[in-house]
Amino acid sequence: MSEQHAVLHAPTYTLVNNQSGDSWELPVISGAMGPDVIDIRRLYAETGCFTFDPGYTSTASCESAITYIDGEKGILLHRGYSIEQLAAESDYLEVCYLLLNGELPDAGQKEEFVEGITYHTMLHEKLNQLFQGFPRDSHPMAIMCGVVGGLSAFYHDSLDIHDPNHRKLAIYRLIAKMPTIAACAYNYEQGQPFIYPRNNLGFAENFLHMMFATPCEDYEVSPTVARAMDRILILHADHEQNASTSTVRLAGSSMANPFACIAAGIASLWGPAHGGANEAVLNMLGEIGTKDQIPGFIRRAKDKNDPFRLMGFGHRVYKNYDPRAAILRESCHEVLEELGVENEPLLELAMELERIALSDDYFLERKLFPNVDFYSGIIYRAMGIPVSMFTMIFAMARVVGWIAQWNEMIQDPALKIGRPRQLFTGSQRSEFVPMEQRGKS
Ligand code: SDX
Repeated sequence: MSEQHAVLHAPTYTLVNNQSGDSWELPVISGAMGPDVIDIRRLYAETGCFTFDPGYTSTASCESAITYIDGEKGILLHRGYSIEQLAAESDYLEVCYLLLNGELPDAGQKEEFVEGITYHTMLHEKLNQLFQGFPRDSHPMAIMCGVVGGLSAFYHDSLDIHDPNHRKLAIYRLIAKMPTIAACAYNYEQGQPFIYPRNNLGFAENFLHMMFATPCEDYEVSPTVARAMDRILILHADHEQNASTSTVRLAGSSMANPFACIAAGIASLWGPAHGGANEAVLNMLGEIGTKDQIPGFIRRAKDKNDPFRLMGFGHRVYKNYDPRAAILRESCHEVLEELGVENEPLLELAMELERIALSDDYFLERKLFPNVDFYSGIIYRAMGIPVSMFTMIFAMARVVGWIAQWNEMIQDPALKIGRPRQLFTGSQRSEFVPMEQRGKS
């Protein structure tokens, strides 16, 4: 526990067993901001009981100094800087430096970092053959899971998690190669040749160039689209201990190599309840079709017997408007206007859906507001990016958050393997029954 932030509080919580009268004092620890934590590390040893918190709704799994979220106020800070300021004033690679190092870079540090990332954007040529093993109609996320997990087979000089130089090299490779892998997965699905990264292009510009250029002619990336893509990458860069980041931390706690840990994070992000929601939002808007169908879908979203949920709405932490969604909502209008996409029907439909949902007590009582995934897909569509690539972009943006949190954890001297327990409700004791006697009782 880093002393400068984690302060052991004098007040404690007392736990009392009302039958035996036994009681235990549980210390309280305060961080720099946000809720205090009740330190239960001694609970099982002293009481013989586990805590029970499926979904971890009340559980702090770790200490971190990277990202702070105030869900009630809709606040998101990266190393103390607001997401609004970073989205407006910074760029993705600068935010990567901030997340990894704790402070914004000066001009020299930024130039060195950008160069370091730039010169790791190519893939090992044998990796390109790995793509060929996938069916053409594979979901790109299946390819990204496989290829990123396979990186550890190629880069033996960045697998020693206890060597800071190995960690730095793995971090640079992951941030640099994710866009190349994403663009290759897209081109593989399209039957197009892979386009190599260009060292003279910006990070987001390079990705869009690898996505849409062909060897047959020059391809100019629209500065408007590149800037919008860079802003989207900033908005998705990190988000505290979400499902995929927690997956990366748990995988890393077993000392697995960083490429394997990131592959685990990609797999977790893919789910429609998490990063897969941006793809699910576009599919949902397509299913709704027209504004007059909205009330029927709202009814389904409220019906406990119907598994349908309003994709892009709700959040475990935000009980207010997701600040990233607010920025994306504005960016939607700017990008569509600058791209000359007049009256995009999906945007009209999304805004009408938001208006109706946010006037409905069911959503207001449960504080279900649009989240980061609600508007992003509309911008991607305007950029000509297919729905199957939406979560790929989320993954290539979030890789820096995953690897920054992994790097923070690996350097924690108190690191222990993550190993939760359970509330066991199964058979207590069964004697083995020979085959000839089974089914005869
Ligand atoms: C991301 O954690 C992060 O930080 C994630 C993320 C990041 O940057 O890493 O922000 C990215 O994953 C954003 C979330 C994207 N997912 C979706 O948009 C999918 C739709 N949303 C829901 O599946 C849901 O809101 C979750 C998964 C996001 C949050 O679920 P929780 O916190 O477990 O909340 P819950 O399921 O317990 O819901 C509370 C109530 C329930 O009703 P009651 O039982 O109280 O009557 O709200 C209802 C739910 O039925 N509810 C919804 C709803 N979301 C919650 N009802 C209709 N539509 C929805 N979208």
